[in-house]
Amino acid sequence: MRKELSRLIELDREIVLLAHIQALLSWDQETYMPPKAVDERSEQIAFVEGLAHERLVSKEIGELLGALGSTGGADLAPSEAAFLRVLRRAHDRAVKLPAELVADLARATTLGQAAWVEARSRSDFAAFAPYLERIVELERRQAACLSGAASDSAYDALLDLFEPGSTEASIRAVFGDLRRELVALLGKIQSRPQVEDSFLRRPCAAERQATISSWLMGLLAYDTSRGRLDTVAHPFTTTLGVDDVRITTRYLEDCFGSSVFSTIHETGHALYELGIAPGAEFVRTHLHDAASMAVHESQSRMWENMVGRSAAFWRPNYAKLSELAADALAGVGLEAFVRAINKVEPSLIRTEADEVTYGLHIILRFELESELISGRLAVRDLPSAWKAKTGELLGLVPPDDARGCLQDVHWSAGLFGYFPSYALGNLYAAQFWAAMEKETPDLEERIESGDLASLLAWLRRGIHQPGAACLPGELVRRVTGSALDPRHFVRYLNEKYSRVYGF
Ligand code: CO
Repeated sequence: MRKELSRLIELDREIVLLAHIQALLSWDQETYMPPKAVDERSEQIAFVEGLAHERLVSKEIGELLGALGSTGGADLAPSEAAFLRVLRRAHDRAVKLPAELVADLARATTLGQAAWVEARSRSDFAAFAPYLERIVELERRQAACLSGAASDSAYDALLDLFEPGSTEASIRAVFGDLRRELVALLGKIQSRPQVEDSFLRRPCAAERQATISSWLMGLLAYDTSRGRLDTVAHPFTTTLGVDDVRITTRYLEDCFGSSVFSTIHETGHALYELGIAPGAEFVRTHLHDAASMAVHESQSRMWENMVGRSAAFWRPNYAKLSELAADALAGVGLEAFVRAINKVEPSLIRTEADEVTYGLHIILRFELESELISGRLAVRDLPSAWKAKTGELLGLVPPDDARGCLQDVHWSAGLFGYFPSYALGNLYAAQFWAAMEKETPDLEERIESGDLASLLAWLRRGIHQPGAACLPGELVRRVTGSALDPRHFVRYLNEKYSRVYGF
């Protein structure tokens, strides 16, 4: 069995190499690639993705998985069993997808993203619609190939790609409770005097913001010998290798908070990826990966919101920030700053939404993408459906599609089923935090004294190191002792915002 396992690891490492090569091509497309290169780039990405798919569905991998499966796992170490489970899941899924569909999807989404950038800048949904129609059609074909039992909804099959084990019904149940709680909390907040935050829109030069970003990356112990920061239209984090995890941000001169919090957010993602350590035997295999996208978001959003928007974090760091952002923060004290960065107000743009209304942005996307995939909503009707739902959930109507259904990159990138991860990530983060506070009652004092190392060490041990060895449901149970429970997040929001708004 040793020989079979070693061979499987060797084959899997080549697939991961191809995935990292593809990530490099995509990273370059988003950061430095000249615009006319997009056609050949879409071919390059489709080609590499096709190779990886071919490897993953190979007869040899199928036979090795079969041979190792027949032993019943009795003589396998837990990490070996976990590796086989993860690789089997990827293999079984890939076998269900025809190579041609994989290549078509890669091509359509590369072209789709380029078309989206252009359409968004001109707020021209009609120019993007044909690309999105093609992507939705391919996503539906993908879902049909992946869904096993006839009872599965097509959307369930896509959700499972990002959050293994979740279904539309299970998410709808959680989101129903969440929506009620968020609307109730928003009502309380809106009955109080609004927070003053106009100084956050005072100009702050891009070079200043770049200096602030580097400083924050250092504070959070992001090892830049294993990563780097670049600028893009829509910030993301990508893994190009186990020692190469890159983040991105954008510098808006009249909104420096945008880069402050996107840098903290993406650094949270990078810390997770860099902390995955499934054991030397499994470096650069499928086991060397995140547990799920929601667990990923739990890390980025914990650093961004629970740390980065807390008074405890800024107490030892605010003097330095107000020196670096002197033009914007002149005359603004720590308390006023902390209140301003926690201002709650319904707005049109998801990435700039506060912690309370953020979940409502996600519920909107969850409902609309489920309708697009099921065919209940046609692509051409998306702008009007978006406007109607924004009105219903947030009480606002976007004046154009750039601030409406064209604002996010996800659908152009074929990421249907991804949005719920953001809201689930908030729920995981609050539950992890509650468990951490139980074990480390002086957590807040430590953060106030500038000690972020004990927080990171706890996350490394419980959440980062196992990587994909645990399914998200298992991980949350193992780390916190119970299944996912949205009440932790609701309690966290109520405690925090009753302080900010004084109710
Ligand atoms: Co994120």
